[in-house]
Amino acid sequence: MQHAPHAHGLHRVISPAGVLPQPAQVIDNHMVCHANEMLIEVSALNVDAASFTQVKALVGADPQAIGAHMQGIVAARGKLHNPVTGSGGMLIGRVKQIGPTFPNDGGLKVGDRIATLVSLSLTPLKIHAIKAVHLAAHQLEIEGEAILFASGLYARLPDDIDERLALAVLDVAGAPMQTARLVRPGMRVVVMGGAGKAGLLSLYAAKRAAGAGGQVIGVSPFENECDEMRACDWIDTVLHADARDAVAVMQAVEQATDGEMADVVINCVNVPDTEMASILSVREGGTVCFFSMATSFTAAALGAEGVGKDATLLVGNGYARGHADFALGCLRESAGLRAIFQRRYAGGA
Ligand SMILES: NC(=O)c1ccc[n+]([C@@H]2O[C@H](COP(=O)([O-])OP(=O)(O)OC[C@H]3O[C@@H](n4cnc5c(N)ncnc54)[C@H](OP(=O)(O)O)[C@@H]3O)[C@@H](O)[C@H]2O)c1
Repeated sequence: MQHAPHAHGLHRVISPAGVLPQPAQVIDNHMVCHANEMLIEVSALNVDAASFTQVKALVGADPQAIGAHMQGIVAARGKLHNPVTGSGGMLIGRVKQIGPTFPNDGGLKVGDRIATLVSLSLTPLKIHAIKAVHLAAHQLEIEGEAILFASGLYARLPDDIDERLALAVLDVAGAPMQTARLVRPGMRVVVMGGAGKAGLLSLYAAKRAAGAGGQVIGVSPFENECDEMRACDWIDTVLHADARDAVAVMQAVEQATDGEMADVVINCVNVPDTEMASILSVREGGTVCFFSMATSFTAAALGAEGVGKDATLLVGNGYARGHADFALGCLRESAGLRAIFQRRYAGGA
């Protein structure tokens, strides 16, 4: 049954009936702007890291094959909702049409450049053409259209930051904000997957909050990523370790913290099976925030129980009030952080 236009997009759900657009199997991606919707001309997609990594592992590191696979998902589901990882990503584009009842408190106009801050896993999307697939940046330059529901969050793209760079940062803006909320002066903080987008931003936010008396530790199994982290003055300690190897990571953290372990662990890895490394690295009574989309609730909950670790386990909410400004603010504040993002995500790779 078709509903009247609904703030959460219920009217776009095709199957199964009665669910919200995110868990829906298929949604209606006809690019007709209902009264309470916004229509966007899309120029680029930032595919969620767990999703991009899964597709790359499936079809190979071939831009054309990855693009075709993503296009296939959108054709089948009406949205870029990876059926294996369950995750989506984010988009940037230009406002094409604003429905008369779309809540437009910010004075948005047709033609404005925006990034949506809701997942592509619930966003009606049509890809007309794929112009480029950037393997290292997990981004697709496309010609396409998308719909934002009345409840959908968005941010105007800043004038002072390259658009593809802003897209990369905004996709993971929740991570540094959640980190900033959890970390207090003097704390020890471990970030799994510390060299990625969310990881570098979280390490920066952690150092800002922990201060000179704190210890901020980044973990990566890749020597090149470790070298990159060693060059960052906001990272105190770099551990060359694989977050899927729980015992090795625990021992490395034990050694790096003189046996104290971490007060807070932020998991920003893009592969599965890293729950136990995070749980074993946190101290009794500490907090683990699982930002990774490859996190298994079962592995985390049963894993902590299995080793008798009384720690707070948090789901890393992708949204936090003010997260976009906070994350972009980190880039504006740190020339070093901005230079890494500029090179990686605004270049041609
Ligand atoms: N909670 C939310 O709302 C939300 C929103 C956006 C993203 N996410 C998730 O957050 C995570 C991070 O996203 P991102 O965009 O920052 O990803 P990213 O840029 O790909 O960063 C992930 C990092 O982890 C590294 N890594 C891979 N295998 C590892 C291992 N075994 N041990 C330690 N590090 C390893 C990656 O190296 P390589 O690049 O060499 O693989 C990369 O540096 C992903 O799982 C993503 O799906 C969550």
